[in-house]
Formats: sequence, C-alpha cells, structure tokens
Amino acid sequence: MLKNISCGTLRSSDVGKSVTLAGWVHRRRDHGNLIFIDLRDREGLVQVVFNPEMHAKAHEIAQQLRNEWVIQVSGEVAPRPDGTVNTEMKSGEIEVYASELIVLNPALTPPFYVNEDSAVDENVRLKYRYVDLRRESMRDALITRHKVVKYIRDFLDERNFLEIETPILIKSTPEGARDHIVPSRLYPGKFYALPQSPQQLKQLLMVAGFERYFQIARCFRDEDSRADRQPEFTQLDLEMSFVTQEDVLLLTEDLFTGLLESLFSDKAFVKPFPRLTYEQSMKDYGTDKPDLRFGMKMADLGETAKKTEFNVFHNVLKNGGIVKGFSVPGCGEFTRGQIDELTDFVKERGATGLIAIGINGLDDNSGLIDMDKMRSNIARFLTPENVNEFSVSTGATEGDLILIIAGESKSTNSALAALRHELGSRLGLADPEMMHFAFITDFPLFEWDTESGCWNASHHAFCMPRDGYEDYILKDPAKVIAQSYDLICNGLEMASGSIRIHDRKLQEDVFAVLGYTRDEIGERFAQLLDAFEYGAPPHGGIAPGIDRLIMVLTGKDSIRDVIAFPKTQSQLDPLFDAPSVVEESQLKELHLEVVGIEPDDS
Ligand code: AMO
Repeated sequence: MLKNISCGTLRSSDVGKSVTLAGWVHRRRDHGNLIFIDLRDREGLVQVVFNPEMHAKAHEIAQQLRNEWVIQVSGEVAPRPDGTVNTEMKSGEIEVYASELIVLNPALTPPFYVNEDSAVDENVRLKYRYVDLRRESMRDALITRHKVVKYIRDFLDERNFLEIETPILIKSTPEGARDHIVPSRLYPGKFYALPQSPQQLKQLLMVAGFERYFQIARCFRDEDSRADRQPEFTQLDLEMSFVTQEDVLLLTEDLFTGLLESLFSDKAFVKPFPRLTYEQSMKDYGTDKPDLRFGMKMADLGETAKKTEFNVFHNVLKNGGIVKGFSVPGCGEFTRGQIDELTDFVKERGATGLIAIGINGLDDNSGLIDMDKMRSNIARFLTPENVNEFSVSTGATEGDLILIIAGESKSTNSALAALRHELGSRLGLADPEMMHFAFITDFPLFEWDTESGCWNASHHAFCMPRDGYEDYILKDPAKVIAQSYDLICNGLEMASGSIRIHDRKLQEDVFAVLGYTRDEIGERFAQLLDAFEYGAPPHGGIAPGIDRLIMVLTGKDSIRDVIAFPKTQSQLDPLFDAPSVVEESQLKELHLEVVGIEPDDS
C-alpha cells in the first residue's frame, strides 16, 4: 500500500517509528520557517512538520500544498515539544517529521470547508457529497451506521436467523404509499413495482420453511420526503415462524438494549421497554408515538369544560368534539405574545385556537386558585372552581401553565401532541442522551378514511386480529384490534410489525373490507393466498427503520445525514442530476411516450 499506518491511529507509543502516511491535507499553516500540515485519513488527523533545515526538498513541495490535496508523506514520529501538545486531537501528543513528500493528486478549492462543521446549503452538500462525506460528523455517522448494522447481523446470526435477499423488481405490495414502477421492455405495457417493503416475500419465506429470516432491506416508497422519510430507505426486515407477539417483542427489546449496551454505553434507556396500548397512548399523549422522556400527560377536560361559561367549549362538545389539555411546568407567567405564537403553532396544525391558564398562586382563605394572579385568555368565563378542576385533572400546581384545545377529536389530538412535543424540546425536557424506547400495541386493524369514505389498514393488510375479533372483520371492522405493534423512541416510530394472518379465508375477508373486489384480490394477492394453502406456519415479525435508528443514535435532525447518498427534500439527486430524461430510443424500446410536458420542464 501507499501507506503503512493510518494518520488517526498514531499515538505516543509510536514515537521513534518511521512511517509512510497517505491522506488529504486538512489544514496547512505556514510559519515561514516551518510548515505544519494536519493530514487526514479515515481514522483521523495527525500533524506533519516540514523543516527546511532537515529536509529541504519536502519543505519546498509542502509550500505548494492546499486543502484537500492528496499526498503521501514519509517521516518519523516524534513527541511534540513541551507546551505544544494538542488535547483536542487524539494524536495530539505527537507529530511526524516529514522527510519525503509526494503529491498524489492536487485538488480544486473545495466548494465548502471540510475542516469546519459550518452550515452549508444542502443542495451544495449533496452535489459535492464526496466532499461532504469527508466532514468529521458525516464520516462518524456512516461509521456508526456500519457498526450498528454489523451488530444487528451478528446478533441475529447468533439466534439462528438467516439473511436472505429478496427481489427489487416485483409487483405492487400495499404499504400505504405510492409505488415506484419500472416499465418492462419484454412485456410492453407491463410494469414491475419496486417493493415498499419485502412484506409478502418474508411471509412467503416463512411458508417456505426458513423459520427465522432477516434482511437489511432497501424499501421504495413514492411519498413526500420529510426529515424522517426518504423515497428510498433501509429496514431491518425480520420474520419468525411459530411465535407469539410476546416472542417478537422480547427479541426486539433484547436486540435494541444489547445494541445500546455494546455500542452506546453513554445512552440511557428504560428496561423493560414500557408498553402502552394504542388506546392508552392516544388518551395520554394524543399520538401513537409520544416522546416519553418527559411527562405532560394529557387529560380529558370535557366534564369541567361543560361547567364553564365559555360557549366554544359547549359548541364543540355538543358537536361530538373533545376538550383536552395538559400542564406545562413552570410557565404560569407567560406573556400574551408567547401565547399568540403558540396559538399560531397549533392553528397551523389544524386547531382553531388555544386556551391558556397560568396558575400563579392560591387564595389564602379558600385554598382555591387565586383568580387575581391567574392569567388566561378566557379568564372572564372561568370560576375558581373551574380552574381548580382543570388543575387537578392536568396535575398543574402553582407556577404551571395549562394549555387546552377544543375541537374535533383527531385534529385536536394531533395539534396537542405537536404542541407537547414542541414545548418538551423548547423547555429542554428531552434528555438527548436518553433513548426512551417503548412498545405501542393493540392497534385497530382498520381505520376509516373520511375523505375517501372507505376503510384503510392502520398498519397493513396482513395483520392478524387478536383472538376473538375475527368475527367482527366483516360485521364491524372498527371494532377489530390487531396483533400489531410499533417500537417508538423519543417521539419517532422506529419499527412496526405484527403477527400475520396465515389463513386464506381470513386474509380474503380483510382484503374485502379494504375494498378489493374478488377479481382484484385474485390478481394482486394470488401468490400469498395460494401459499397459505400449502402449509403456512403461524408467523410474525417486525421491521425497524435503520435510517431513523441511526439518526436518533447520532443525534442528527434528518435521516439525510445518515445516508451516504440521499435525495433532497424534493426527491432530487443533485450529484447524479436524477431524475433525468432518457434517450428517445430507450423510451421507444419500452413502448413509452412522454406526453403533455415541454422537454425543458422534465
Ligand atoms: P412500516 O411501513 O411501518 O412497516 O415501516 C417500518 C419502519 O420503516 C421505517 N420507515 C421509513 N424510514 C425512512 N423513510 C421512509 N419513507 C420510511 N417508511 C417507513 C420506519 C418504520 O417504523 N412491512 C412492514 C413491517 C412489518 O409489518 O414487519 C413495514 O414496512 O422506521
């Protein structure tokens, strides 16, 4: 090799060694007489010193060096002189006295600094991703990703799982997003779909008798990108035969706690992972993925709201809506401006308004809320008894702020959940070193979509109903609880899974509720339904999102920062300039014609 040791691994134990290093010029300081280079390779940095009196040739070449040039340096490792040790650098106790320098490849001035973690426009970062990935935090994220995936592979291998690859060119598998489709050249007018997940394939592997399967699987979903969503992402997909829900949850818990204990000893977690039913989670937090690092549990305030003079409450309750709220510790002395800002925040998320009540003292005589010290935007509609009840229900005490939203159940819950999440992070209640995993269980199998007026699967179509609920599938779909579960962490859904249906009739009934006709069921799902008749074992599994997991573990705000080559928020790849137009001849071969757009728009 062009190097015999890595820059970043050199330590004082290497003093006296002759080394040959190769890497990138991270920083160059010319002190007239001496030239100092921080030389960087994947393992880190080391300081190289060029002294004209000792090695004039090397010093002369070093004068030309610029950031990001690729060089090879030979020299001797020496202790740094007293007073020049750099404690910020792992190799800061030593330096290398260069005797020879070869420029392997000069470089243009990089489009942004590699040697600082400064903010850079994301399009520029992604266009020059090969430069961006040189930055320390990006390099570390990808190293962490490798270690995590290796841990997962070893963990599952030890537990008798087999890693099996499944195809990328298949047929549409419903996971709730739009498919990416690929035209077939050999079969004009026909298309493959890229898998939204290997869901049916892993079930078929169970029918095939593999019993324990996993895969670091690429999934494709044509949905709007967000900080935690990419059109192409990676799951740890796993499936097991002859298991109950409990078996899958315990395996998942062991995997994640083992991972944290082995690789992230600075992270705290709660074991066993708390478990909440979907119903409980919605009641207490207004969402199925609450951040459990802080309290602020919600309370239904309908009964007290009825006793107030505030007409908005009465109207909402009359129309079947809810009045719900929570207490925010230590924020009783809010300003009008702060509440206006939070009101805008919840309005953007579907609420019509926000009620604030600041509890700032108790009346010495009655022991009730001191109404003179209380602040509220609906003060004139409230009695001390009303406020007292609101405080008891939400757990608010002196100095706290009660926030209440009234409205239709779904939007009220989601606005309150977003508000709770936002305040948790603004008030610094969410410990960044805490990984607060929890399982959410007992999801409804179906949810009614008011917009399209039909039933959707709340997880996907393949989840087994809990015992005793099978009979309701066709009679009363809303009632059916599934053996399905999510793993959540710090306000994010990290994984999702279920025990699966393995019976043809049951599966056909579920498809029927979801609105598939008999012909559609045959056309889209014959592969799975037929397989169920050839000896399908009871089975179940789960699929944690690898990108989200690494994002949380590395403390990043976006999964784009833990994926080597992600798409932008608008699904573009600025590096390859994709998507792009293809040759007319390619389209012809595929029997495709692009119509209705100007070539320049494409
Ligand atoms: P689900 O659709 O819930 O379940 O996905 C499982 C996990 O994958 C991650 N994830 C994503 N990550 C990044 N970008 C996306 N667009 C994206 N979509 C999902 C999340 C999520 O929890 N086949 C089922 C699993 C099963 O039942 O075994 C499935 O795919 O972390």
